[in-house]
Amino acid sequence: MSKKLDIRIKTPQEMATLREAGKVLARIVTQIKSSLKIGMTTKDIDLMAEELISSEGVVAAFKGYRGYPSCVCVSVNEEIVHGIPGGRVINSGDIVSVDIGIIRQEFFSDMAFSVGFGDLDAGRQKLLDVTRQALIKGIAQAKSGARLGDVSHAIQAYVEAKGFSVVRDFVGHGIGRKLHEDPDIPNFGHPGTGVVLKPGMVLAIEPMVNMGTYRTKTLQDGWTVVTADRQPSAHFEHTIAVTEDGPVIFTE
Ligand code: MF3
Ligand code: CO
Repeated sequence: MSKKLDIRIKTPQEMATLREAGKVLARIVTQIKSSLKIGMTTKDIDLMAEELISSEGVVAAFKGYRGYPSCVCVSVNEEIVHGIPGGRVINSGDIVSVDIGIIRQEFFSDMAFSVGFGDLDAGRQKLLDVTRQALIKGIAQAKSGARLGDVSHAIQAYVEAKGFSVVRDFVGHGIGRKLHEDPDIPNFGHPGTGVVLKPGMVLAIEPMVNMGTYRTKTLQDGWTVVTADRQPSAHFEHTIAVTEDGPVIFTE
């Protein structure tokens, strides 16, 4: 049984509003990135994000979403996604993933990045580079007339060729007046399959890449997702649009 998808094709005006939301979010992320330092707690990052979000006059999209308690998700090392900000301190050698969403004039934008601190070992540096590049490879496939499976496959093929694994339990998504719209966007799949991409589709593409097994475990807090083997993970996400002229990244 397959459920009928509710894919919202955005009007040109909606596209313009979503693009503006993306620009605001990118500006916030630039400021967060430049302020991150060893010794900070993950809660410090959340407080910084909260201030930046309010000074831009927009609203934090994650806070209160299904009861999520914070403005951002901060996931360190073996944490893949949905880490709740708290007392964990950033140390040299850590990979820190920050995921952030905002609402501007009723439209959502969603973005994530991972960054390494201090003395990062070569494997972890490669994990960051491969995950960042996997997102770019996926976005490049998001052309009008292509299939969603082309996006998914490009991400999976690139990541696996580099010796890493893609998370299966969490996926990207359509985005617009809601944080999560149809379709789901897995980071694995077969080319030439799935939804045909059309201008006006706005998508949050978000590869989560593990150094070891793709298997995940959710911690007792009900949110924090970790790798089953506790090896490190990285996560990059952009909100993008399918247009007549090819993919356009809104969150940059
Ligand atoms: N980027 C993540 C997602 O699309 C963020 C959701 S976290 C939550 O699912 F806190 F909002 F749940
Ligand atoms: Co997302």
